Amino acid sequence: MPLPSQYSVVVPAAGIGERMKADCPKQYLHIAGKTIIEHTLTNLLEHSQVKHVIVVLDPNDNFFSELAIASHPSIKVVEGGQERCDSVLAGLNYLPDDEEWVLVHDAARPCLAKTDLTTLLQLAEQGSIGGILATPVRDTMKRAIDVKMNGQHVIKQTESREKLWHALTPQFFKLASLKKALNEASKQNANITDEASAIELLGEKVMLVEGRASNIKITQPEDLLLAEFYLTQKQAK
Ligand code: CTP
Ligand code: MG
Repeated sequence: MPLPSQYSVVVPAAGIGERMKADCPKQYLHIAGKTIIEHTLTNLLEHSQVKHVIVVLDPNDNFFSELAIASHPSIKVVEGGQERCDSVLAGLNYLPDDEEWVLVHDAARPCLAKTDLTTLLQLAEQGSIGGILATPVRDTMKRAIDVKMNGQHVIKQTESREKLWHALTPQFFKLASLKKALNEASKQNANITDEASAIELLGEKVMLVEGRASNIKITQPEDLLLAEFYLTQKQAK
């Protein structure tokens, strides 16, 4: 049996975490014994199909270099940009052109299960341009009208949740296609919130790979307790 292929991962970590309202970027907050970004990077580096991790940082970041993981031989640091897609592109540009596939995973998602990553990587053998981890929407979905009443949003209508999915990361694409898609999206000034949206603009088909809902993106203060719960559950196993 040949050994399974290994891939590089770009980890955008150049955000300031405005919605977290903490006194440092959210990826440097401590939960379950270490910083969020250390959980994220350790998860990736422990996977047998990950060879390198490109961590994309704010040019003025003084936190990352203080972490022990910063000197890990499989980690490389590059400077990020204004928007998440600029940071991802900076990471992709660091990779040699002969890499066929690349993973992109948010620094703010420390609870990724290794088995979900393994399932996503199987796309490389299935003849697609790539795909993303995602979870089906469970709640009833409401669209709001444009104006607020008494300072509150008001329902316009209920949207069918059938066929609606939450896009997670990692997202896994052919490197050349993803670079082309992100450069094209930036030329068009398109609103790109994940890698898949750039690929969709090219008219290509992106696969949805169902992953665990515990793979949350830490965004607001209340997410910290939930992430801590998932991480301690994992450590107890
Ligand atoms: N990110 C990045 N470069 C940017 C903006 C975001 O590398 N210019 C990264 C973040 O560090 C995070 C991931 O993209 O790991 C997902 O973004 P998000 O959750 O929105 O993080 P922030 O932008 O830091 O948070 P906020 O939007 O609340 O400011
Ligand atoms: Mg953001």
